[in-house]
Amino acid sequence: MAIEYIKNSKIFHLYNNDISYVIKIYLGEPCLIHFGKRVHINDDVIKLHSEYPVSFLCQEDGEPPFVSREIIQRECATYGLGDFRYPSLSVEDGVKNNAFNLSYCGYEILETKEVIKGMPSLRGGQSLKIFLQDEDSGLRAELHYTIYEDCNVVARSVKLKNASDSDMNLKRAFSFCMDFDGCDYNATYLYGKHSAEANIEQIRISHGVKTISSTTGTTSHKANPFIALSELGANEESGNVVGVNLIYSGSFSISVEVNHLHKTRLTGGINDFNFDWTLHSDEEFATPEAVICYSDEGFGGMSRQFHYLYKNYLICSKFEKAPCPIVINSWESAFYDFNDEKLYAIIEKAKNTGIDIFVLDDGWFKGRNSDKSSLGDWETDTCKLKHGLKGIVEKCKDCGLKFGIWIEPEMISKDSDLYREHTDWALKNAYLKNPESRNQLVLDLTKREVLTYIKNAMGTLLRENEISYVKWDMNRYLSGNYSEGLKNQGEFMHRYMLAVYELCEYLTTEFPSVVFEGCAGGGGRVDAGMMYYFPMIWASDSTDANDRTKIMYGWSLCYPLSSLSGHITCVPNHQNNRETPLNSRFDIAALGAFGFEFDISDSDEADYISDFTKKYREVESVTKNGNLYRLRNPFQDDDFSLMIVNREQTCAYLWVYQSLVSYLRTPYRLKLRGLCPDKLYRVENLGLQLYGDILMNLGLQINPCYSDFESRLLKITEVR
Ligand code: GLA
Repeated sequence: MAIEYIKNSKIFHLYNNDISYVIKIYLGEPCLIHFGKRVHINDDVIKLHSEYPVSFLCQEDGEPPFVSREIIQRECATYGLGDFRYPSLSVEDGVKNNAFNLSYCGYEILETKEVIKGMPSLRGGQSLKIFLQDEDSGLRAELHYTIYEDCNVVARSVKLKNASDSDMNLKRAFSFCMDFDGCDYNATYLYGKHSAEANIEQIRISHGVKTISSTTGTTSHKANPFIALSELGANEESGNVVGVNLIYSGSFSISVEVNHLHKTRLTGGINDFNFDWTLHSDEEFATPEAVICYSDEGFGGMSRQFHYLYKNYLICSKFEKAPCPIVINSWESAFYDFNDEKLYAIIEKAKNTGIDIFVLDDGWFKGRNSDKSSLGDWETDTCKLKHGLKGIVEKCKDCGLKFGIWIEPEMISKDSDLYREHTDWALKNAYLKNPESRNQLVLDLTKREVLTYIKNAMGTLLRENEISYVKWDMNRYLSGNYSEGLKNQGEFMHRYMLAVYELCEYLTTEFPSVVFEGCAGGGGRVDAGMMYYFPMIWASDSTDANDRTKIMYGWSLCYPLSSLSGHITCVPNHQNNRETPLNSRFDIAALGAFGFEFDISDSDEADYISDFTKKYREVESVTKNGNLYRLRNPFQDDDFSLMIVNREQTCAYLWVYQSLVSYLRTPYRLKLRGLCPDKLYRVENLGLQLYGDILMNLGLQINPCYSDFESRLLKITEVR
């Protein structure tokens, strides 16, 4: 891995064994020459740069031809220099009407990457900073690039500085801009809704702008800050794909624009809708980081790169390297209706089963008998829990379990003591009616006293009780936001996100051994920003195994499944009434961070808990660090299949799941992936011994099942 500057031709070359990112200073600004496979660079490479002379736009001295900026591949695009594509940066200083000429003025190479203050970002890597300035206005920009030895990604972010004497207003401050040659690409991204997150959509891009975004103050169920641009014909296993993911958890926007010269621009970052940030004299503004990933092994290769990167450079390593705690969660076991006895019975049943933690979900605090009240009053409801949390903690200890708890720190109910005391702490827009959603309001964490209060309340809760695990929920979007006293309301959404990150940073630093599970009404905040703090994220409120095949398949495009949690719940399923077999529920839950969520004190299905925890630990030894290969796409085939192979290629698990029975089904060959061709493997459940090349080229014969929602989880181990 290295970052080189070739002085004569003003070229920066960031590379590792597999990829190159090549930037050339051209027309005074950084332009992309190449991002993809590792290449050799010499001076003549610059001659490959597109130039498009236009005669009607003359230079000042009238000398044609003038090279159009509409065709060059700009790394930080401003408006006003004859490039009419949408820029990645838009700034008002009251004078220049958004026309800035950010020109190159130097660089710095850092052996160790700088952290982005107040925000999550990747750890490790070697960095390049390219400095730009607009001489007249005093606007400065630093483009940051980080490259990794063992991963095909470049991380990018921008730092802006106001070096003038007066205020400037950032109207758009995106994290990256990348221009690609031509426009023969597909764009692939995720969309969804509550309980149906992570649906995959692919479109052929065309002239104009396509934007995926969230305006919700979260990344949301509706969209996700991930997009892949792929050459036509790229598929799961082959073809060039560039994937982009923002390390950000708030409102975002990512756009693909094709202009009339058939050039493609990909740009994105904090959503610029309603965004306006006042940058006072001498102040700096840092954008969230964008991860740009390259794969020449199609979408599968791209996903494996993202997974490896996040497991090694994003998620906190002490949790990532350790086995996941297996939980029994009280939500679908009891909802709001419990008392000491009911919980004790569940805890006792979990004793000696391999379950590690009892997680007390919603309903444990003062007066919380439904979702209509009490958020903000983080004291135990002693009507339900006569011996307080301490009684439950003691019971857990007696049974060899640890204790975990559900909190929703960002929220406040109108019917709460906190609201009665501090009505002004809730976000409300005086001009809009009905600000509630799920009967709750959002705390205005941008106010220092509110953030301090919630830090203390959470700190006290964790300090005074032996809590090993926290499920951090967030059950509504931000809407109609208005923070009283905030001078520039356009700053609100990002300030809110910074406050959430400050709270996350405080709690994870103050309580370093506590495992945090992120959640936002299920998968409303599944993103790399949250993964930086929370090693686990609840993938969806749909706990139905059949729904989860799609949801997990979709998330796996960008996020490692081992950090997405899934539980065995009861049937009929609480969300959709579907009945799926118990072994299917296990298999699908075992794709990620595993647990149980049904009343195990009163169910025959609880007899199998010990078998499942044992089996999960075996599966986890492969899935935690393994490589994922998607084999059958439930969005296309109705069936789901993937395999995860350990890094040594000595062991793999293969999931084969069939949704509905049909007599039209016939046996088919499933070609496996990721094995070593020369190794002999045993397919344990089938009693077969076959070489890797046979398994990958001829495949296993899969016979249809004769009941709905059947799953098979096959273990494949090396014989020699
Ligand atoms: C959200 C979560 C659920 C559960 C409930 C509790 O919907 O996603 O898992 O914790 O809140 O109210």
